[in-house]
Amino acid sequence: MKASTEGGAVGARTEDHEKGIRIVTELPGPKAKEALANFKESVSSVMYNIQPFLVPESGEGSLITDVDGNRFVDLLSGVGVNAIGQAHPKVVRVIAEEAARGIHHNVHVGPVPVYGRFLATIRETMPEGLRNGKGFLGNSGAEADEAAFKLARYYTGKPTIIALDPCFHGRTMGTLAATTGAKGRRKLAGVLTGIRHAKYPYAYRAPEGANVTDWAIESVENILQQQSPADDVAALVMETIAGEPGVIIPPKDYLPRLKKLLTDNGILLISDEVQVGMGKTGRWWAVEHFGVTPDIMTFAKPAGGGLPLGGMIARRDLADAWSAGHHASTFGGNPVACAAGIATIGVIKEDKLVERAVKVGEETLRRLREFADRYELVGDVRGQGMLFGLELVTDQRRKTPAAKEATSIKEAAFRRGLITSTTGPFGNVVRLTPALNIQQEYLDEGIEALDQSFKEVSK
Ligand SMILES: Cc1ncc(COP(=O)(O)O)c(C=O)c1O
Repeated sequence: MKASTEGGAVGARTEDHEKGIRIVTELPGPKAKEALANFKESVSSVMYNIQPFLVPESGEGSLITDVDGNRFVDLLSGVGVNAIGQAHPKVVRVIAEEAARGIHHNVHVGPVPVYGRFLATIRETMPEGLRNGKGFLGNSGAEADEAAFKLARYYTGKPTIIALDPCFHGRTMGTLAATTGAKGRRKLAGVLTGIRHAKYPYAYRAPEGANVTDWAIESVENILQQQSPADDVAALVMETIAGEPGVIIPPKDYLPRLKKLLTDNGILLISDEVQVGMGKTGRWWAVEHFGVTPDIMTFAKPAGGGLPLGGMIARRDLADAWSAGHHASTFGGNPVACAAGIATIGVIKEDKLVERAVKVGEETLRRLREFADRYELVGDVRGQGMLFGLELVTDQRRKTPAAKEATSIKEAAFRRGLITSTTGPFGNVVRLTPALNIQQEYLDEGIEALDQSFKEVSK
């Protein structure tokens, strides 16, 4: 399939429309079942909760074909990794060219130019204040956040990090300490130290009648007054818009007030934009919605154009205060991943995909909001740019989480050829995070399939 972004209007209708959803077997199909059994033979049970039905054979743009020849519309884009869809021709070409020059040049053996070029490229997209910052590259979101935590502790000489509840920052010991959710922390509590949790400004689940910003800011103040004095706190880390916790968008005045409180107390702000950065929310970086510049920004998912790449950009004075050798990664900033990342940023710029995310995102959100009129299950519909969450409840007044129903909708959607996910602290949020360049007709097909799935489960 010719990618919609090459040589034509993004999202324009093409003859490729015939290549939309196509379900030709029961799901999962016979080959998928066999593949799943083989998978379980060698892969630990720790991985069995992850979309067990979709066994991919190939992907092009926003379409995924499984091993049985079923074709799905992907409104999840590899949970936000495939910002410009699967196998974009420009990225595929750059990967081949860079790999031909050497697949791994170790940056600890000698400075690899593309490592620096990637950081120079990504920081140019960042808000003033970080645009002349400097960075470090690892392989994942968790590594990006780990690096930020280490730098914040090193720079301030203070031990504590404040995170928000709910939040998600990764699954390594350090980032898991910051991440909320009892399930992932089970049997690990003793080693998850040095973190305090304040409230995420989660309007839908804030106390009734409360001013959400006051409520959330007071919870940070309470930590500083009652648990960890500012002298002990290095940084506060937050997802600027929270993806994994269910697409939660802070009120406009929260981040400016938070930043002031932190600055007044000598505490750094780490903005985790692993999931919401690089155009996803209709700005290059979600912090731009709030007019605030963090001291450290972390990124990953789409950064390597689908290859593993994560990292951070810190204020220049901070980044250069870090002593050589205090942190490192063998594979971090792999040259092929860096080149793929530069190409991806190039496509986002050339095809004006951030601007497109605003336009397409607003219309999509309007259509998803109509679900709340049609289905009793829908408690709240949230979205920014191309990131959407529908929070489901069995009781509108009590807001009782409808996790079972959310899973049923995800599975019904899958059987109709649509890839989505469920997320949130209660697992009751249906999340959509399509590629920035998804063709309009595939988005339409996906929303229609979602609508039918809600209808089926609401019966
Ligand atoms: C906001 C955020 N931070 C960190 C991570 C961890 O990233 P990774 O799975 O690449 O370690 C994720 C992953 O979903 C994320 O959404």
